[in-house]
Amino acid sequence: MPGIKLILKLWDYRKSARKSARRYSTGTYVFYIVGASRARSHLDGAPRSLRLNVKMSFARKGSPEERRIVMAGISKTNKTTEANGPLTGRVALVTGGSRGIGRAIAIKLAGLGAAVAICGRDAEKLRATANELQALAEKSFWQTADVTRVGDVEKLVSDTEKQLGPIGILVNNAGIGLFGPAQEKKEEEWDRVLNTNAKSVFLVSRAVVPAMIRQGQGDIINISSLAGRNTFAGGGLYCASKWAVQGLSGCMAEDLRDYGIRVSVICPGSVATEFSGRGTKDASKALQADDVAHAVAAMVTQRAGSFMSEIHLRPLRKS
Ligand SMILES: NC(=O)c1ccc[n+]([C@@H]2O[C@H](COP(=O)([O-])OP(=O)(O)OC[C@H]3O[C@@H](n4cnc5c(N)ncnc54)[C@H](OP(=O)(O)O)[C@@H]3O)[C@@H](O)[C@H]2O)c1
Repeated sequence: MPGIKLILKLWDYRKSARKSARRYSTGTYVFYIVGASRARSHLDGAPRSLRLNVKMSFARKGSPEERRIVMAGISKTNKTTEANGPLTGRVALVTGGSRGIGRAIAIKLAGLGAAVAICGRDAEKLRATANELQALAEKSFWQTADVTRVGDVEKLVSDTEKQLGPIGILVNNAGIGLFGPAQEKKEEEWDRVLNTNAKSVFLVSRAVVPAMIRQGQGDIINISSLAGRNTFAGGGLYCASKWAVQGLSGCMAEDLRDYGIRVSVICPGSVATEFSGRGTKDASKALQADDVAHAVAAMVTQRAGSFMSEIHLRPLRKS
């Protein structure tokens, strides 16, 4: 509904105030009067490109010693399958979108009409998934980024917003598994698992929330695990990381619900991906990556005034 939205914060969003909102500032108090078109206006006037336009950019990033290469690509196409899908006009970022569950989620969101950005560390895998997204999404974007690094995360979010518009859907999916008794694990392994699975959720969410607040809406969906609800032998590091995701998600949900932002978790059981290392095990007894994507689609298409805070997904058959 159009109307007056009053945001009282101790920090200032002056640098990135939306064009569609009139902003009034009195010291540290910021007032926005937001129009009816506020949430999705960034794409409304955008011309639809009729040609495939893939741009590669290479840039030195990080400290000179690291000399890492950041790769990115943007594509615009008229091949969208659901030009008027329920997510048309919305921008989604899926971390770890190159393969497995993240790839399935990115493809699902693109099929529903969203402009989709994906990240991961492996450029070749990202490029392959980005090619699939081009067939579905009006616009898509990919960039190599390590979600444990604050610099990569900030650049990823800022470049995505430059290319696609303000992010309205964030799926914190990137994650790794490392199993075995905690007492046998190295400090470096603890850091790797906790930073990838939990700290990244904090870093990426923190980077997208200001734009969501300005839009007056947003969905942050964190891919946790039933390991974030249970404990099991050999799960010490992984369970610690996913329990952290559960706690962070619940608290952020409370912090952000009055801004119109839904923070949710999905807790899947075993899913047949490279992560689960199922090898020759019967994949039909596990969840499929698309099952998780289906849950994400249900959450983001839920009526704005309601909120699925947590979904538990289990394979139907145990043996
Ligand atoms: N598979 C399961 O049984 C299962 C069950 C419950 C929950 N989950 C959760 O679901 C999520 C996805 O798992 P999955 O099965 O799809 O795993 P996967 O097939 O191994 O894919 C993991 C994705 O995360 C990316 N990634 C890992 N570390 C990253 C980093 N530091 N920075 C950026 N991207 C990174 C990977 O890309 P790069 O390697 O190129 O960086 C890849 O795209 C994880 O959070 C996992 O904990 C999985």
